[in-house]
Amino acid sequence: MAEVVIVENAQAAGDLVADAILRLIGTKPDAVLGLATGSTPLPVYRALAERRGDTDLSRVSGFALDEYVGLPISHPESYRSVITREVVEPVGLTPERIHVPVGAEETIRHAGADYEAAINAAGGVDIQILGIGTDGHIGFNEPGSSFASLTRIKTLTRQTRADNARFFDSLDQVPTHSITQGLGTILRARHLVLLAFGAGKAKAIAEALEGPVSANMPASAIQLHPHVTVVIDEAAATELAHADYYRDSYENKPAWQTI
Ligand code: F6R
Repeated sequence: MAEVVIVENAQAAGDLVADAILRLIGTKPDAVLGLATGSTPLPVYRALAERRGDTDLSRVSGFALDEYVGLPISHPESYRSVITREVVEPVGLTPERIHVPVGAEETIRHAGADYEAAINAAGGVDIQILGIGTDGHIGFNEPGSSFASLTRIKTLTRQTRADNARFFDSLDQVPTHSITQGLGTILRARHLVLLAFGAGKAKAIAEALEGPVSANMPASAIQLHPHVTVVIDEAAATELAHADYYRDSYENKPAWQTI
């Protein structure tokens, strides 16, 4: 089962996950990071920038989870722009090694296969950072997505577009489609780290971790993965039936075990 770590706040989560990433890079200087966008992973990227010290990140590569279709990459809310602004520049990653699916309409027919090939050529993702949508999506795998799915186009749900409208001037400007790693792609990463903060994520977190494995709750796919760490704050943990057990397990964890 997933290891569930309930932390005081988003900053503590960011520090914990950034340290895990830096430990990985310490043992594997050409580590491959799976990068989520949205608000949730920002504390991780901030902590990475602050805590990297003189760690050599020049050989690290990264693959974003998803991109909007039809939004020019020059748009400040394209995930290419967001990854450059929030991750590549502050953390000091090598831009040429950071990949984002291409959502341009001219190449969209083969963009999914191209992205899968690029991930495979890099040797697969070592650590995949994930947020979760209020409807349970990971990447933009909306409810009903196949657990075997690979990178492809997905129509965004009304809920997801409404949730993401805060990044745009109006709901109309939120693209209707995305290109996203599939659940099958995500499940191939060697370590999944799912983060969630705030009461708005509590229901999705409880269903993903403790509910049935179902395409209706795409994040429940993590129950099928052998190495998952879920890092959440108290507010996101309120609907978990076994929160005390998770706390006991983490508090009594042997010192030699890391996340
Ligand atoms: C972003 C992504 C999405 C977000 C999710 C939560 O790359 O794949 O699954 O992680 O929509 O978004 P935030 O973190 O903004 O609440």
